[in-house]
Amino acid sequence: MTAPLRLGVNIDHVATIRNARGGDHPDPVRAAEIIAHVGGDGITAHLREDRRHIRDADIERIMAATSLPLNLEMAATEEMLAIALRHRPHAACIVPEKREERTTEGGLDAAGLHNQLAPMVTRLREANIRVSLFIEPDTRQIDAAIQLKAPVVEFHTGKYAHLLLDGDREGAEAELRRIADAAALAAKNGIESHAGHGLTFDNVQPIAAIPQIAELNIGHYLIGEAIFIGLEESVRKMRMLMDMAR
Ligand code: PXP
Repeated sequence: MTAPLRLGVNIDHVATIRNARGGDHPDPVRAAEIIAHVGGDGITAHLREDRRHIRDADIERIMAATSLPLNLEMAATEEMLAIALRHRPHAACIVPEKREERTTEGGLDAAGLHNQLAPMVTRLREANIRVSLFIEPDTRQIDAAIQLKAPVVEFHTGKYAHLLLDGDREGAEAELRRIADAAALAAKNGIESHAGHGLTFDNVQPIAAIPQIAELNIGHYLIGEAIFIGLEESVRKMRMLMDMAR
């Protein structure tokens, strides 16, 4: 069955530009309002340990200002758990986080971190926060998500995106099959599949065409493209490409 496909827009890099000058422009809240207006289905924001883009106050302001559900990306730390429990966003996506990385480079080792993640997933679920685990499209990680009773997994599409950029079509096709197989396995086990990282106008459609994937979370490219065509057009065009692929 093909589920409707939602678009969550990651607005971290609106905050990156704002923080470059230390003031309050451009405001991620204004971006969230525009995204709501043009048919985005959700707002995604990653509160990093170093607060390099989104900050604590942004989370509160985004939740107050828009009617769209907030998907809070967070590392598996006590600090982030406390913040999530305080704000109670619609969803929390647990991601691996390294201080020195430029972006989230790979999926969470949900299998290796079972004991650390189990109480965290339970507490988030008890607070009615929809938990997702940002993982590689890998059977072992899906098995771990099943053990952890995570209702959602988000597959890291960075490898697929990089293989295409490197001109490795065969490699990208193989990675795409891995993502499709993983989404089918997740669905068979009652887990909803999302996907994201490195998605662009050029590479989104094969991912959007995977019938079990219910949500894409896209940030850097959409905000970058907004510089040239505006945020409204950037989100509208992505939405249209996703719908066409479905
Ligand atoms: N999904 C998750 C879990 C992420 O960590 C990120 C990057 O913050 C994204 C989606 C969006 O990736 P990109 O900015 O490359 O579109």
